[in-house]
Amino acid sequence: MTLSFDGVAGPDVAPLLADGTIDLVERLTAASNQTWLAVLRSGDVQARCVYKPIAGERPLWDFPTGTLAGREVAAHRVAWSLGWQVIPPTVLRDGPLGQGMCQMWVETDPEVDVIELAGRRDDPDLRRIALLDAVINNSDRKAGHLLATPDGAILGCDHGVSFSVRYKLRTVLWQWRGTPIPAADREALNRLAARLRDPASDLNAELAPLVTADEVYAARRRAEILAEHGAYPYPSPEWPAVPYPPV
Ligand SMILES: Nc1ncnc2c1ncn2[C@@H]1O[C@H](COP(=O)(O)OP(=O)(O)OP(=O)(O)O)[C@@H](O)[C@H]1O
Ligand SMILES: [Mg+2]
Repeated sequence: MTLSFDGVAGPDVAPLLADGTIDLVERLTAASNQTWLAVLRSGDVQARCVYKPIAGERPLWDFPTGTLAGREVAAHRVAWSLGWQVIPPTVLRDGPLGQGMCQMWVETDPEVDVIELAGRRDDPDLRRIALLDAVINNSDRKAGHLLATPDGAILGCDHGVSFSVRYKLRTVLWQWRGTPIPAADREALNRLAARLRDPASDLNAELAPLVTADEVYAARRRAEILAEHGAYPYPSPEWPAVPYPPV
C-alpha cells in the first residue's frame, strides 16, 4: 500500500519534508515536550507534519537531553530499512524553533479505538511494530502512539525514547511474546543486521549522527539475537514492561 499524507505520496514526500516551509499551527502537548502540529508548504503542495524542536526537549533521567529528535529519525531509518513502512517519513532539519525532527502527519480513522487496536493479534503491521520496538528498544509504546489510517494501515509515532543500550522495552504489544517470528520478518532482521555489521553501509552512515556507536551496536545485537532465537521477546521482570498510562 502506498502511504499518502494529506494527498502527498511517493516521490513528492521527501522534498516537501526536507525543504518545505514549516508553519506552526498549535502545540499538541501542553506540559511535556514541545510537540507542534505544523504545515509543510512548497509551491502549491502542502501537508501537515509534527515538528519537535530539540530546544524544546524536556530533560529525562535516562536519555541525554537533546538526543530525542535524532532517536525518532533513527527509528524511522531502521523501520524502512527492514522494509516496514510503519513509521511516517521523519527527518532532522531546521524549522521555526531551530533544529528538530519533522515527521509527516498521518490522518487517523476516528472510528478506531486505540485500546482495541493495540489488542489485535492478527494485524501484520501491528505485529511488525511490536518486533521493530524490540529492535529499537522502544520504552514508550503506548496505545496512543499507534495511528490507524482510514485505509487500514497502522503506523507508530513518538520514538524519542528508543535505542538505549539497556533493555528498556516498554510496550502495550505483548500479545506475541514467546511466539515464532514469521520467516519473512526473520529474514528482514537478518538483512538489517548485515547492513549494521557493514561499516560502509548507507544505513550506518545515516545512523552515525543520530545515535551513538554503542547504541547502533546494541540495536544490531538485538536484531541478530531476535533473528537467531526466532521468537518475540518476553517482558523483563526488572523493568516496568507496560507504559503508564497505557494510552
Ligand atoms: N506523525 C503523526 N501523525 C499523526 N498523529 C501524530 C503524529 N505524531 C504524533 N501524533 C499525535 O500527537 C500525539 C503527541 O505526539 P507525541 O506522542 O509524539 O508527542 P510527545 O510530546 O512525545 O507526547 P507525550 O510526551 O505526551 O508522549 C500522539 O499521541 C499522536 O496522537
Ligand atoms: Mg507521546
